[in-house]
Amino acid sequence: MVFLSPHKFLENKGGVLYIDGVSTIELAYKFDTPLYVLSENRVRENFRRLREALLKHHDKVRIYYSAKANTSLALLKILRDEGAYLDVVSPGEVFLALKAGFQPEEILFTGTSVRDDELEFLVRAGVTINIDSLSQLKRLISIHVPEVLSIRVNPEIGAGHHKHVITAGRDSKFGIWETDVIRAYEIAKGAGVRRFGIHMHIGSGILSVEPFLLAAQKLLEIAYRVRRELEITFEFIDFGGGLGVPYKLEEKPLNLDEYAEKMLNLFKSKIREYDLGEPFFCIEPGRYIVCDAGILLTRVNTVKVTPFKKFIGVDAGFNLLIRPVMYGAYHHIIVANKLNEPEKEVYDVAGPLCESGDILARDRLLPEIHEGDILAILNTGAYGLVMSSQYNSRPRCPEVLVKDGKYALIRERENFEDLLRGQRLPEWLKH
Ligand code: LLP
Repeated sequence: MVFLSPHKFLENKGGVLYIDGVSTIELAYKFDTPLYVLSENRVRENFRRLREALLKHHDKVRIYYSAKANTSLALLKILRDEGAYLDVVSPGEVFLALKAGFQPEEILFTGTSVRDDELEFLVRAGVTINIDSLSQLKRLISIHVPEVLSIRVNPEIGAGHHKHVITAGRDSKFGIWETDVIRAYEIAKGAGVRRFGIHMHIGSGILSVEPFLLAAQKLLEIAYRVRRELEITFEFIDFGGGLGVPYKLEEKPLNLDEYAEKMLNLFKSKIREYDLGEPFFCIEPGRYIVCDAGILLTRVNTVKVTPFKKFIGVDAGFNLLIRPVMYGAYHHIIVANKLNEPEKEVYDVAGPLCESGDILARDRLLPEIHEGDILAILNTGAYGLVMSSQYNSRPRCPEVLVKDGKYALIRERENFEDLLRGQRLPEWLKH
């Protein structure tokens, strides 16, 4: 049985995969492969589902889309249109956010190992800064004392789909430990900061509510200490991103209603009990909003049978989708032009890079594959193209946005000139 999303943005029409009303085969021929495709309707649906789930329990809610998951300008515009705020982690993301039309006060910068010139850039841009270390705080204050400031706390409880994406706890480089948090707010208040936020982000790809709740409890207790000792109340409390999505067929989705109900009940009761002011409830999801809205189309160029394995050689590798190699991540693969054919062969799906590790999937049961078939790699809207490279001097692939049967190129395919871009020969080699 071919797995298609229960939602109608992915459809089987006569054995061909359609996304948001557009044939993937038509896209593959029109734009060539490899090709990232993003469904606008699905992005909007994901955002609205999340917002509605939260608004059922509280009206002071802000969703900061975590731009790092996918920074395409068209996507940023869609989310701005939906009323999203933005979580950014680098000056480059600030630049893109402003280009997409976000106002500086809608942008929250959460960086780590931030340089002085980057702090100066953020101050000039006027975005809200979320502080990751005492060092960063002191350096910021010597440059400029902002009106509003947030502190990222390490609540000691981390979670995530892989150890590389757990962003709290003893081994994590992120955030300020409880032992230094009071000191941080004291320095900020003493310097003249007037309005405050508090923040955590515990990790990515979390499918159960429990870790969010435990860490939120801890964050709210820390906020209470800050309130008690320094008489600071909060304009916003940000519980970070990390809301997971299922990648495997057997994985259960995060129970969104349970997340919203439990997190907001805890939030509402604690802001009252601890007298924390009237803060906004904020979260900063990336994956939840864009992951399942995107697919990567790749064409089979080789079928290689050895005495031990059947390999399918495709034109996308870890240059374009690094998650399988970097995190051992599973991405479901379907044959976009053979949805009605029985799955009867087991294949490894291999990319074109000269590394043994360039395998996108192992031991997948698929219909019999022929050269020219188009594979769709699902759940690639988040942390796909943004993590791509030109490794092996392969230009990056394009991205297309689809909506209600329409499509538009939103990112061009790179070419060989892009491989040369910025390269120079020193005088002594120019002959
Ligand atoms: N907020 C902060 C401060 C973050 O560091 C992140 C992600 C997010 C929000 C959004 O997390 P999300 O809702 O997307 O889980 N490349 C990895 C994921 C790295 C996430 C890094 N931080 C992957 O492909 O699984």
